[in-house]
Amino acid sequence: MSAFCTSSVFTCYLLLLLLLLLRTLHCSADSTTNSAAPRRRPPRQLSVDYYATSCRQLDQLVASVTAQQFKEAPVSGPATIRLFFHDCFVEGCDGSILLSSRPGSKEMAERDAQDNKDLAMEAFDVVKKAKALVESKCPGVVSCADILAIAARDFVHLAGGPYYQVKKGRWDGKISMASRVYSNLPHANSTIDELLNLFSSKGLTRDDLVVLSGAHTIGFAHCKHFVSRLYDYRGTRQPDPAIDSRLLKALKMSCPSFGGNDNVVAPFDVTTPFSFDNAYYQNLESKLGLLASDQALSLDTRTKPLVQALAKDKQKFFQAFSLAMDKMGSIGVKRGPRHGEKRKDCSMHMS
Ligand code: HEM
Repeated sequence: MSAFCTSSVFTCYLLLLLLLLLRTLHCSADSTTNSAAPRRRPPRQLSVDYYATSCRQLDQLVASVTAQQFKEAPVSGPATIRLFFHDCFVEGCDGSILLSSRPGSKEMAERDAQDNKDLAMEAFDVVKKAKALVESKCPGVVSCADILAIAARDFVHLAGGPYYQVKKGRWDGKISMASRVYSNLPHANSTIDELLNLFSSKGLTRDDLVVLSGAHTIGFAHCKHFVSRLYDYRGTRQPDPAIDSRLLKALKMSCPSFGGNDNVVAPFDVTTPFSFDNAYYQNLESKLGLLASDQALSLDTRTKPLVQALAKDKQKFFQAFSLAMDKMGSIGVKRGPRHGEKRKDCSMHMS
């Protein structure tokens, strides 16, 4: 090019201009492609000492409520852990599940969606009581979303599970739509592929799926979630071959194929239903899983090795669970008044 340039300065100048233009076009094409690619936003920074100056005693305030509730209504424990999970998976961990539907509004709030109908009232009561206490000591500062995250941790610990630090700084979300619930939650008949896809869409891994499912070491499920396994597994008119025969018999007695009581529930962990331990994984290895989605974790070659490892090692489960809860607790976190609010009453928007 230098030989060409010396022969005609003007042509050379034009050529350089053209080259520059092409380069600019190329670069902007690149950046367009990049911005079109799905880019996951890094989770906004949460921190353990977020309220160090504004509400130093926050964890203790919430703990006084959770400890009392655990004594008076132990079902609050599993119910609150599940409430936190359903909050995080739909619209992020932003307390949107706590909002009541606005009277006269066409769209119902998340908590009124079919999938959330069987969330126990006790869990909402815990958050309500904790929020009232926190508001009396630190008015207008702490989000409902953070209170829910702390309460869920407390109940894990109260039931015998690990104690981990909860990072805080979530704002309460302004959007709560029932129509967004179904596709963002897993279901008892979800396949492992479906579960992996859903968890991955939230930034969670295959291991996170196995570890977080360990929350089913406590709590109960209504018959409707597993009754088809007992009588007509995947249209075979036979029980699921992956259920232990004694468990099958017992579950059939509680849950008839027709005309049963809608309120009947069965424990997820038949051996130690009230202890937060790793028996859930040991049960899966003995075909004692309650939901098809639980049992599938020990049948699929992708998830089975971790089920086996966690069944052998409670400490490994506790460590992994603490980390996974922290990760789940960072999903779709909102910060600042543009996207969030700090509600006084967790069930009502500020405006
Ligand atoms: C992986 C897929 C999951 C599926 C398919 C699933 C499904 C279910 C179902 C159907 C119930 C029974 C609800 C009822 O009948 O009242 C339930 C309860 C429960 N879930 Fe999950 N869940 C999953 C993951 C999780 C995760 C990640 C957590 C928490 C980290 C969790 C925590 C709980 C708890 C503690 C209960 C017991 C609630 C109570 O006794 O009030 N689940 N789940």
